[in-house]
This record gives sequence, structure tokens and C-alpha cells, in this order.
Amino acid sequence: MKTLLIGLIGFIIFFLGTNNQIDKVPIDDMKVNSILKKLGEPTSTNEVKSLRNLSAENGKNLVHKGFAERRSGKKTKKQSKHFVCTSCHNVVKERADLNSIDPQERLDYAVDNNLPYLQGSSLYGVANRKSYYNDDYVKKYGDLTKVARNNIREAIQLCAVECAQGRRLKDWEVESILAYFWEIDLKVSDLKLDKQESKTVQDALNKKGDHPKVRALIKSKYLEKAPATFMYPPEDRSKGLGLKGNPDNGKNIYDKSCMHCHKNARYSFFNLDDSKHSFDYLEKHIERYSPYSIYQVARYGTSPMNGKRSYMPFYTKEKMSDQMLEDLRAYIQVKAD
Ligand code: HEC
Ligand code: HEC
Repeated sequence: MKTLLIGLIGFIIFFLGTNNQIDKVPIDDMKVNSILKKLGEPTSTNEVKSLRNLSAENGKNLVHKGFAERRSGKKTKKQSKHFVCTSCHNVVKERADLNSIDPQERLDYAVDNNLPYLQGSSLYGVANRKSYYNDDYVKKYGDLTKVARNNIREAIQLCAVECAQGRRLKDWEVESILAYFWEIDLKVSDLKLDKQESKTVQDALNKKGDHPKVRALIKSKYLEKAPATFMYPPEDRSKGLGLKGNPDNGKNIYDKSCMHCHKNARYSFFNLDDSKHSFDYLEKHIERYSPYSIYQVARYGTSPMNGKRSYMPFYTKEKMSDQMLEDLRAYIQVKAD
């Protein structure tokens, strides 16, 4: 009887032991956040707080359609009359290399994967980031960035009110959006670990304890903030930026970016299409100091009037280089000829 008991306990210990071995489980599909936690990272403040009506599905609806549903089935008021979050943000991966801030690489990726090319960073992986409205955004939003910079909930609110020109979200709506963000957070496969690095992570997972070095390795594969550098139009718009434009690349910007909002006046009263009329109109204004000049709208955007009108967000350096702006100009000029 005693030996049987010892045998049984031995078996249980053996069984639990083998069960703890993760080396058979492929780590590629695992979430970066859950691996970091297993390796000793403190729980992220971005994780969701439980609230009534909260659901990732509500979050998804808010981001894509602008409203959510209460448990009673009653729909909320639309968050914004002008925009939804996806007017300006993708919700899938938009760069092959998550460490890159090169806008041309981002554009090439958008073309290859048939994604829109937008002023806002993708919300894919935003839950893994730690700092928001970085660098120069303080020039635009001033003190508002102080509360939003290290607080994803306030970053969402800032965008809802200032970017989307809509109402502030209820707490449960913010938590729902966060719950959705945790469905579109980074997976290990996004990090493109090589064999040796995968093994390092795998081995660390099999040993209990704190693994700061392995966590640092994982975090070296993506940016914890989206850098933002403001740019300005050329001083002399007729001379432009002194770069030779490539119209083929300009076409990609026009199709993937401008058309996302202006085709069929989707998010703007200002309609753009592939007609000669559109290109003639844009061409005529390029060199003027007017809100219809591409230099003006790309670098300053347009302003909302008393929060009652939609407006155009500008492109930072990380979202459009001067070279790309000249490429767009070249395309418009070719088409207007
Ligand atoms: C009119 C365009 C626009 C709309 C609509 C919009 N955003 Fe943004 N959002 C931006 C821009 C531009 C930024 C600047 C920083 C960046 O994304 O790199 C930004 C930043 C953010 C950030 C911080 C990202 C970071 O890494 O710095 C979050 C979070 C965010 N938006 C969430 C939302 C949510 C949620 C909605 C919908 C309720 C929304 N946004 C609607 C344009 C927009
Ligand atoms: C995220 C959506 C969005 C994107 C992308 C976008 N725009 Fe806009 N744009 C707007 C909105 C909104 C307005 C404000 C006009 C209105 O509806 O009142 C605007 C205004 C403009 C205006 C001035 C028109 C006016 O009535 O003041 C021009 C010119 C313009 N955009 C050109 C472009 C070009 C060129 C691109 C591509 C490089 C582009 N836009 C990309 C949303 C966008």
C-alpha cells in the first residue's frame, strides 16, 4: 500500500514535471506579452480591467464602426460623426520589420499586402507599446500629451476627442477597445527570431525564474514607441524640396493614402479620383500658399473648425519622407500634363 502511494506520488510529480516542459510547444503562435510575463515581466498596465458591458467585440465595433452595444442590446451613440478609428489606423501588421521607422518600407509593405497607407500608426501591437504621442506631438497637443504619453487609456481618449473629433468614451468602452487591442497584439512569429534566438527563448521558458536578458532580447525586436518628427513645407513651393520625384512611387502614395479618404468623398467633402480634373486641380495649387497645396496638407494637415468639421491629419517624417512628397508631386504633374 505504502509503495503504491509512493509510486503514485512519484508518477504525479513526473507527470507534472513533463507537463511543465514547454519545449515541444511551438512558441511562434504564442503572444509576446504572455511570454514576457512567464519570463518575469511585471503585468502591463495596459491589461484590461473588468467592467460591465465590456467585451473585445464591443471594442472591435467601436474601432471599425464607431459604436458598441450594451448588454440590453441598445446601441451607443456614435463616437464620431466624421471618422472611425480605421479612417486613420490599420489594425493589422503594417511593417515587415517592427524596428523600422522607414516610411518607404512601410509604403512598400502596404502595396504588397494591399493595405491603406495612413497617418496614424497601426493599432496592431499598440497594446505592446509603452509610450504614445511621442516626440513632436507635444507641439500639437501640448499638455494633453502629458497624460496620454504613458497611459494608453488617455491616449485612446485623446484620439477619440482630438483626432476623431468625437465624444469622450465611457470607461467600459475604453476597456473594450483595450480588450480588442489585446486580440491584435504581437505574436512571437512577428518578431522574426532566428533559430538560435528561438532556442534561447524556448530554454528560458523551461527554467523558472527571472530572465531579464531574454526579455531584453525579445524587446529588441520591436519598438515600444512610434517615433514622431514633424516636417515643414519647402520655403519656396515652386522650387519644392530639391529632390527628383519618382511618379511610380507617387502613384502608390496617391492610391494607398489619399484615395483612402478622398475617393467618393469618403471621409472628406473634398473628392479625389483618377480623373484629369482631380490632378489638374491638385497641380494648379502645388506651388500656392493655399490649403489645397499638397505641401500644405501633407505637412500641416487642415484644422477642424470648432470641433464641428472633419479635418486632415498631417504626415510626420516617419509616415512620409520629403522624397515621397516629391514623388507624389511628380505623379500629379505627370497625370495633369
Ligand atoms: C483622423 C485620424 C484619426 C482618427 C479618426 C483616429 N486616430 Fe488615433 N491617431 C491618429 C494619429 C495621426 C496619431 C498619431 C500618433 C501615431 O499613430 O503614430 C494617433 C494616435 C493614436 C494612438 C497612440 C498611438 C501611438 O503609438 O502613439 C492611439 C492608441 C490611437 N490613436 C487610438 C485611436 C482610436 C481608439 C481611435 C478611434 C476611437 C482613433 N485613434 C481614431 C489619427 C487618428
Ligand atoms: C485620414 C484621411 C485622409 C487622408 C489619408 C488624406 N486626406 Fe486630405 N483631407 C481629409 C479631410 C477630412 C480633409 C478636410 C476637408 C473637408 O472635408 O472639409 C482633407 C483635406 C484635404 C485637402 C484640402 C481640401 C479642403 O477642403 O480644405 C487637400 C488638397 C487634400 N486633403 C489632399 C490630400 C492628399 C493629396 C492626400 C494624400 C497625400 C490626402 N489628402 C490624404 C482626409 C484625408
